[in-house]
Amino acid sequence: MRKLAAGNWKMNGMSVDLAEIAKLIDAHPAPDCDMLICPPTTLLSRMAERAAGSALQIGGQDCHAAGNGAHTGDISPAMLKDAGASHVILGHSERRADHGETDASVQAKAAAAQAIGLVAIVCVGETEAQRDAGTTLAVIGSQLAGSLPATLATVPDALVVAYEPVWAIGTGRTPTLDEIAEVHSFIRDTLVKRYGAAAQEMRLLYGGSVKASNAAAIFALPHVNGALVGGASLKCADFAPIVTALAAS
Ligand code: 13P
Repeated sequence: MRKLAAGNWKMNGMSVDLAEIAKLIDAHPAPDCDMLICPPTTLLSRMAERAAGSALQIGGQDCHAAGNGAHTGDISPAMLKDAGASHVILGHSERRADHGETDASVQAKAAAAQAIGLVAIVCVGETEAQRDAGTTLAVIGSQLAGSLPATLATVPDALVVAYEPVWAIGTGRTPTLDEIAEVHSFIRDTLVKRYGAAAQEMRLLYGGSVKASNAAAIFALPHVNGALVGGASLKCADFAPIVTALAAS
């Protein structure tokens, strides 16, 4: 399987920051893994134009489940694709918390994204209180059951699961390597039970305070097939070494 180094710029990035993309393309003209940046929507089409013909792929950070219509402020999967996106992040914990997204709404979005040919990156993750209460695997299992589309679309590559412990996002804290490995193998087992053997080929990303200094150890774990990186994806100097570590893993 081809691993995936994905950057989530969240609500960061102005026109001037497109220069980081040019540097990233120069740093990794042909990496031995997929390389993706998900910018804010305001930069998406310009970033896609700069990335055209390069190894860098571009994604959205959310989409609506409907194809079009009276949904002020929302963007459809087809609009993302039209703007040059190949991927979309769905059900990020920040959207679940800030916008009340539910497993059911994430599932509908994922199905709509798949139907239009976008790769859906569905995020799951426990809060610190849930981890402390010992319910991490139960929480992840329930999020997977409710958020993932009913079928695997045409190819396992088209659906990606990102495990992002909420308490590790933007905090500089990460689970232990054993804890990451435990959750990733649980996710793999759950996906195989749900979708069959093809789910062995789905990419499982870890996200939450990934940086150049911890990337190689995380990428060495079984069933970690890449990363979803927030803060360390904003600058080429921080993200390029993470891509290098993944390509070498
Ligand atoms: P950080 O890498 O900044 O912790 O963010 C992770 C994340 O939420 C990516 O989607």
